Amino acid sequence: MSDMMADLEGYFRTFVPQRDDLLETLEKEAEAEEIPIVGPVAGELLNLLARISGARRILELGAATGYSAIYLARGAAAVEGKVISLENDPTMARRARRNIERAGLSDRIDIRQGDALEQMAAMEGPAFDLIFLDIDKEFYGPALPQCERLIRSGGVMLADNVGFADAADFNRALWESDKWQVVNLLSLLPGHSPERDGLSFAVRR
Ligand SMILES: C[S@@+](CC[C@H](N)C(=O)[O-])C[C@H]1O[C@@H](n2cnc3c(N)ncnc32)[C@H](O)[C@@H]1O
Repeated sequence: MSDMMADLEGYFRTFVPQRDDLLETLEKEAEAEEIPIVGPVAGELLNLLARISGARRILELGAATGYSAIYLARGAAAVEGKVISLENDPTMARRARRNIERAGLSDRIDIRQGDALEQMAAMEGPAFDLIFLDIDKEFYGPALPQCERLIRSGGVMLADNVGFADAADFNRALWESDKWQVVNLLSLLPGHSPERDGLSFAVRR
């Protein structure tokens, strides 16, 4: 049997995708200001998921400066997929809109300022092919019933930071639900905050 790499984490830390100047600038700003963006590896994963699922309608909970929304929209470029991103901090929402304009994606990403749970409650479903959860983790559990209602059958849900204690109720409810097929991954995500964390993938049955 083949041996494992001696320094497995160090080895995988070398596989970080290339980014353009805008994404690198947003990463530097996030590091300086301690804004917990997904980083380049999870960003690439979002791009890939949007691409392979052919998502035309994407919902993101938690925009911050627009970094992950840009990855999602770029992944959905072939089908001109649209991203709605919900952000309750007015300053962040303004920054996200400015960055999205710089990325030339204002026609495909709609940043909606306000509480994510309140905004979801006012939406009609099913309306989305892909949902990405990245708000404060205590709100993941309360957001789950809305995600169930708003995602189409066969739609994909990705939840970041499910290794946080505040995500425990969400993880348990998702796992016990017969409405979702779920895979939880313990992951190493260079540039992510924190780098060793959990990611949850689910498909709506
Ligand atoms: C982890 S950051 C999002 C990072 C972003 N997805 C990225 O990777 O570029 C979480 C964001 O969610 C926002 N947020 C937290 N709770 C929220 C809520 N209940 N509704 C809307 N936004 C919320 C915060 O203001 C913060 O900007």
